[in-house]
Amino acid sequence: MPVPSDSSPVPEFTPDPSRPLKLLAACPAYSETPLRQPENLGPWNLLGKDESTRMGLGSFKALGGVYAVAAMIASAWKQEGHGELNAEAYLEEPVRDFAGAMTFVCASAGNHGMAIAAGAQIFGARARVHLAASVPEYFARRLQQTGADVVRSGDTYEDSMTAALADAGASDAILLADSSWPGYTRAPSLIMEGYSVIAEELRRRFELTHSWPTHVFLQAGVGGLAAATAYMIRLNWAVQPEIIIVEPEAAPCLLQSQLAGKPVTVAGPVSVMGRLDCKQPSIIAVEVLNKVADRYVTISDAEAEDAVAIAFNAGIRSTPSAVAGLAALLKAEELGLELNGTARPLVIFTEAPA
Ligand SMILES: Cc1ncc(COP(=O)(O)O)c(C=O)c1O
Repeated sequence: MPVPSDSSPVPEFTPDPSRPLKLLAACPAYSETPLRQPENLGPWNLLGKDESTRMGLGSFKALGGVYAVAAMIASAWKQEGHGELNAEAYLEEPVRDFAGAMTFVCASAGNHGMAIAAGAQIFGARARVHLAASVPEYFARRLQQTGADVVRSGDTYEDSMTAALADAGASDAILLADSSWPGYTRAPSLIMEGYSVIAEELRRRFELTHSWPTHVFLQAGVGGLAAATAYMIRLNWAVQPEIIIVEPEAAPCLLQSQLAGKPVTVAGPVSVMGRLDCKQPSIIAVEVLNKVADRYVTISDAEAEDAVAIAFNAGIRSTPSAVAGLAALLKAEELGLELNGTARPLVIFTEAPA
């Protein structure tokens, strides 16, 4: 992305899930998402973290957007000479009044905009979301019902991102993008810190059950979810799995960045995995994943669509983006991955269908 808005290079990414968890404890919509054990999907003991119900917002993105809005309010509050904000204070009048003067702006192809809009609504701030013409009208309505202003900006996601950047540059609105680029890393680091809650919920559960996964399949768009999860796994999971990053054939920006040893933008056709169809990776994600991921694999649109049908037969309603990890697992042998009947692969069902 072209316009730098802060001065940091790629930072050391040091998420601490206790920060978002402390805050989320005060959010009535927060609860741990279920870990499913779908049967009849293969010979292994499959574990599926089901993010489709996350905070009533339909995807894991809720964790990042809601937390980043809260963290930005807290840092502005502190900058104004007030003290640290504790979770309960957010919902009290002085802080809500203060937040009411703040506007958060973003571009969205789906889930991220909902997360920012919901965060703004919960804490009394305002949100403005730029949508490309390709984003369906029902989605614009959902955003408006969540209190956001919607601006139609251009034909493609990239057009809407350019508009969001220009909007933040021309107003005092705060840009909350879920990707990072040189000079823009603070907000995406916070968003990724929000995602780190997923790995922490899983760690706590596996500490109790001792049934640690042997392989973790993480689908990636710009790589925020995959990097946050993989980082936490390497940081504090007692038993280490193989970590496999899964991208659409049409958008292998993290794979190519790993091969090049630096962030690389790729070209390719449009993918049915809309949420993962990102040609330019997050620079934080590239940095993290190059250190902690074991493998990068790609799946075709047809394989993702087959996985939707297979998951449906196992009682899981999903989308091609949501089951990309499962799609890679289903062709594990072809990918040269060794998973026998005792393997315990973990996938994340990242979103609910519309
Ligand atoms: C449902 C879903 N899955 C996966 C992803 C990929 O996340 P990231 O772009 O952080 O790699 C997204 C991103 O929006 C998403 O909405």
